[in-house]
Amino acid sequence: MTDKIVIVGAGHAAGQVVATLRLKKFDGSICLIGEEAYLPYQRPPLSKKYLAGELPAERLHFKAPNFYDEPNIEVHLNTTIDRIDRAAKVVQSNDGLEFPYDKLVISLGAHARHIDLPGIELAGVHYLRTIPDVDRIREEFGPSRRLVIVGAGYIGLEVAAVAAQLGLDVTVVEMLDRVMSRVVSAQVSEFYQHEHADHGVKLLLSTGIKGFAGDGHVAAVDLADGTKIPADLVVIGIGVVPNTRLAADAGLEVSNGILVNDRCNTSDPDIYAVGDCTCHPNDLLGRQIRLESVHNALEQAKTAAANICGEDQRYAQVPWFWSDQYDLKLQIAGLSQDYDQTIIRGDPAERSFSCLYLNDGKLIAVDAINRPKDFMQSKKLIADHAVIDPALLADSDLELKDMV
Ligand code: APR
Repeated sequence: MTDKIVIVGAGHAAGQVVATLRLKKFDGSICLIGEEAYLPYQRPPLSKKYLAGELPAERLHFKAPNFYDEPNIEVHLNTTIDRIDRAAKVVQSNDGLEFPYDKLVISLGAHARHIDLPGIELAGVHYLRTIPDVDRIREEFGPSRRLVIVGAGYIGLEVAAVAAQLGLDVTVVEMLDRVMSRVVSAQVSEFYQHEHADHGVKLLLSTGIKGFAGDGHVAAVDLADGTKIPADLVVIGIGVVPNTRLAADAGLEVSNGILVNDRCNTSDPDIYAVGDCTCHPNDLLGRQIRLESVHNALEQAKTAAANICGEDQRYAQVPWFWSDQYDLKLQIAGLSQDYDQTIIRGDPAERSFSCLYLNDGKLIAVDAINRPKDFMQSKKLIADHAVIDPALLADSDLELKDMV
């Protein structure tokens, strides 16, 4: 019998756990505990419209604040849990509060990967993961201000696009030889490199940094080759690290994320984990993976909540992701990790094309740039492991859905 559900971590995934429990008329108590000062909010706009000043903080809410005003829902913000006592089935906060549970959901997400270099403590050097992070960055934004971004992944390039459009002088330093190399092919990287250059962004690829210089406030970034780039502010976006310490300390199985099965159950049957902090089975790849994805967070949350309510639901989804830079919408379906062939549909010069990834003839992933139909239609083909003649795939007059 499940009377008390405790959810640790109050991000997007946690909000969805509450929403699904409510939808399923769960009538026990729900206790949502989060370290941040905010109710669950959407992180993706932080490096896009929120940074651009085009979206007020209230619009970031996952659900309106009164959604949690239910007699069986308790919310504890500004509360850090630092121990799970599995024997006693209770979680403890760092200031001594105790929250007993029948079922526990861990939705702790991930934190920005830190860089351990001289000068990291200088004012004006920022990470970007939370609302206060962006508020601090915004305070330092202004036309002609010199912004140096470390890392040309999602965060770095989205920030570069917003900043360039606001008139900042932007330099991006990336240690690898192309942008977004973790997620897209060389053709797509090259397209984005041109786009950023066209907007005046200086891209330094294959470039390491040694540290940050300044007297109290950052004034320059020191590159590995001895060059100094003047900087009024710095944003670091070099990836994220899953928040697994609490689970590991409690003796749960952890390996690049908290290990869960396809029911979102950890190695303890009374503890579930969902979202960026999990390492979960993926049907397409046939192995455990960790995803940094809103879609994954929401779907795992729904699966965990359904299973807590006594259903037997499996999590089996085609992953998808997106990134907005300038007027370009990049939508990614599937995982392109093991491809042996790529096909381009459409024309990069027209700023509307897709890169299709095949493995042994099977369609495994699609990056669609301003081509939403390709993105939508590819999901089913990827789930079905469709094998389609490459010449057909490349024919952009044909719709993907008509090819099978
Ligand atoms: N110097 C320069 N670049 C570096 C360094 C370094 N020391 N270390 C890593 N990088 C580069 C990587 O090569 C990569 O291109 O930083 C980039 C990080 O890109 P992502 O892995 O996409 O991470 P990030 O941009 O921080 O985004 C993190 O936030 O937008 C969300 O969920 C989304 O997964 C994404 C997460």
